[in-house]
Amino acid sequence: MYPLIRNRRLRSNESVRRLVRETMLSPNDFLVPLFVVEGKGIKEEIASMPGQYRMSLDNLEKEIKELWKMGLCAVLLFAKVPDNLKDNKGTEALNADGLMQRAVKTVKNVCPEMLVMTDVALDPFSVYGHDGIVENGQIANDETTEVLAEMSVSHAQAGADFVAPSDMMDGRILSIREALEDEGFINTGIMSYSAKYASAYYGPFRDALDSAPVDVANIPKDKKTYQMDYANRFEAIRETQMDIDEGADIVMVKPGLCYLDIVREIKNEVDVPVAVYQVSGEYAMVKAAAEKGWLDHDTVMMEQLIAFKRAGANIIASYFAKDAVKLL
Ligand code: PBG
Repeated sequence: MYPLIRNRRLRSNESVRRLVRETMLSPNDFLVPLFVVEGKGIKEEIASMPGQYRMSLDNLEKEIKELWKMGLCAVLLFAKVPDNLKDNKGTEALNADGLMQRAVKTVKNVCPEMLVMTDVALDPFSVYGHDGIVENGQIANDETTEVLAEMSVSHAQAGADFVAPSDMMDGRILSIREALEDEGFINTGIMSYSAKYASAYYGPFRDALDSAPVDVANIPKDKKTYQMDYANRFEAIRETQMDIDEGADIVMVKPGLCYLDIVREIKNEVDVPVAVYQVSGEYAMVKAAAEKGWLDHDTVMMEQLIAFKRAGANIIASYFAKDAVKLL
């Protein structure tokens, strides 16, 4: 007797596969990370992230127009700060005419509908490469959240639609939400990096911004006292729920591929949009393997991107956004 059900019937050709496909990607799914630098006419490729650039604001303008034309509608901005402007407290981050603030204005000027999110953290501004202020051999939590709140207000004043705190200090979402409300920015959103793990996959990003932690008395060169231990699962849910209680509009899991279990678990647990960040090291691995001819770039990329959505992500921050949308 033949079996009554043959699952292969629904896989027998591309048309039927299309008809029954459960997960689809569209340009609406992506958040495009972009790196900006001071200067003019600059578009330098990041060595460990082929196809990704540090751009001066004139080139940022061009990039934004191109992204919008392709149907991409949201960017996440990171600023590379010159060494002479770095200190322990991230003073430059509060400069109303700083690079990040001008970058936000540049985007809004050339494409008002492009959704602008800004990275809120001290590391690109810190002489120590840490996301917090260093005090007595510690990363000072509450002093740091005060600066992050001021930084968020400054980004909102420049025109940011969302601020995206990526630091993992305790209580920062509440400090930021209160500061934004106090200053009248009731419609400025917060996308919280709520379950951000202490990951070695951030390596290429730290090259891009020259923001790797440096040796400083008694403080380890890693970020394990604030970013999460990658062995932990329940903690991710607690962190995420606290951020929502403190006023986060969107929550995020980061990195992506190693943490799909966390994405699914959080998706099942919360009712706000869930973002995932496919980070620099994940991007670099695919690029490197493809360069060697060991993996097929486009099909591996798509398999990973679909996996994020299947796991439950509503938003994917990815350096592959342009590559992917070209194939859709
Ligand atoms: C800064 C920040 C990092 C990333 C995003 N924001 C680096 C870090 O925490 O050390 C990593 C992004 C990537 O690797 O693509 N707080």
